[in-house]
Amino acid sequence: MRDIDQKLIEAATAVRENAFAPYSGFRVGAAALGDDGIIYTGCNVESATYGLTMCAERNAIFKGVSEGVKRFTAIAIVADTDKLTPPCGSCRQIIWEFCGDVPVTMSNLNGKTDTAQMSELLPRAFDSRFLNK
Ligand code: THU
Repeated sequence: MRDIDQKLIEAATAVRENAFAPYSGFRVGAAALGDDGIIYTGCNVESATYGLTMCAERNAIFKGVSEGVKRFTAIAIVADTDKLTPPCGSCRQIIWEFCGDVPVTMSNLNGKTDTAQMSELLPRAFDSRFLNK
């Protein structure tokens, strides 16, 4: 594994501690590497309405975008599951939007890791290129 992917896992593991997940009890952390070299982190934030919940991956990317970063070159996701947690469908679309075909590193708290390319996770993705007709 690349040093940067290990750093992303460490950052995602740390920010997972901030997860606000009183309804599901399912805590997730994510860390995305901006093309400015900065690591942007996010945790899941739930709501009593359930439906307004925001995932860790989108919070990490949206934090970077809010700081002016439009591209990210890698992302890591950490949850406490034996079978490694992949990004949900909505997050896959947003990761594709701002990261493209990047490696997605998934990890748990026991150090188990796996990496998948975004093009595997979201084949035949819709993106802005289709808007140009
Ligand atoms: N969740 C994430 O933050 N990322 C994922 O990839 C999967 C799901 C959150 C949303 C919700 O707060 C909880 O996990 C259970 O779905």
